[in-house]
Amino acid sequence: MSQVNPERALYSPEEAEFLSKMEKRWARYNREKVKAIRSQLGPVDSLLEIGCGSGQILKGLARDVPKLVGVDENEERLEDASKNCPNTKLIRAKAEELKFHEEFDVVLTSQMLHEVKQFGTIHQMSEILRAIWDALKPDGRYFLLDHIDPGEGRVIIEVPNPTEQLLLEFKSKFLLRSVWIKKLGKGLYEIERRDLQDFVSKTWSFNSPMEDMEMKETHASFSKEEAQGMVRKAGFSPAQFITFTDIENDLRYHQIELKGKTSPWHRKFLLISSKISSSAF
Ligand SMILES: C[S@@+](CC[C@H](N)C(=O)[O-])C[C@H]1O[C@@H](n2cnc3c(N)ncnc32)[C@H](O)[C@@H]1O
Repeated sequence: MSQVNPERALYSPEEAEFLSKMEKRWARYNREKVKAIRSQLGPVDSLLEIGCGSGQILKGLARDVPKLVGVDENEERLEDASKNCPNTKLIRAKAEELKFHEEFDVVLTSQMLHEVKQFGTIHQMSEILRAIWDALKPDGRYFLLDHIDPGEGRVIIEVPNPTEQLLLEFKSKFLLRSVWIKKLGKGLYEIERRDLQDFVSKTWSFNSPMEDMEMKETHASFSKEEAQGMVRKAGFSPAQFITFTDIENDLRYHQIELKGKTSPWHRKFLLISSKISSSAF
C-alpha cells in the first residue's frame, strides 16, 4: 500500500472504526451492488475502483477481473480492504490527485461521488471526473453507482410505535433540511419521499461517531438527469442506466407499511458511460 500525500480524510479514525463494525449489516447491499456491476461488466482486463472503502466491491469482482486496483484516501478503510482483498493493489490517495493515464477498461465509483458533491467543492468534483477520464483507455467505460433521488412528492405510511419514536428522533436530528412529516392518525403519517429514503438509510448512525456526518448529507443524491448531465460535461457518453435496491426491504426492516397507491421504488442506480475521444477539459 503506497502513501500518496494524504491530506485529512473525510472520515476520522473513529468513524472508520465504527464503519468497520457495521460491515456485516451491509452484506446484502454489497451483494446487490456487485450483482448490478457484474450484470453490465462483460469481459474486461482491468478495473479501478476509486473510493473503494473496505474493498467489499473489489472482493466481489475478484474472480471477474484479472487486474483490480483500489484507491481510497482513508488509511483505516484501506487496512480493512487489504484483509478483504489480499491480492488486490491498494493505493492511499485522494481521487482528485490521481495520475493514471489510459490504463483501465473500467473505472468505478460506488457511493463515493455523493460525498464529494456534498462535502467537497465544484473544483474537486471536476478534478475527480478528469482523473477518471484520464485513467480510462480510449474505449473505456465509467461506472457511476450511487444513491438516486426519489424526487418530489409525499407518501402515506403506517408505523408501529418504536419506529414512530425513531421517526421523530430523525426529524429532530437531521440537519441538512427540515424533515416534513404530518401525523394523520394513530401510527399514520404523511412524509416526503426524500425524507423517507433518508430515514430508512440513516438510522443506523444514531448515537454513533457517524451520526454527525450522516445527519448533514442526503441519500437522495442524484437524479438520473443530473448524473447523466454531469458525466456528459466531463467527456463521457451516458448509455445504460439501471436501478436496484428496493426500498421495500428497508421499509420492512423498520416495519413501515406504504399505504394507498404508492409503489415502492429503487434507491440506488448504476450509470454506465463510455469515454468519448475528446475530453471536456
Ligand atoms: C460510502 S464509502 C463507499 C465504499 C465502497 N465504494 C462501497 O461502495 O462500499 C465512500 C468511500 O469514498 C472514500 N472517499 C471519499 N472522498 C474521497 C476522495 N476525495 N478521494 C479518495 N477517497 C475518497 C471514503 O474514504 C470512503 O471509503
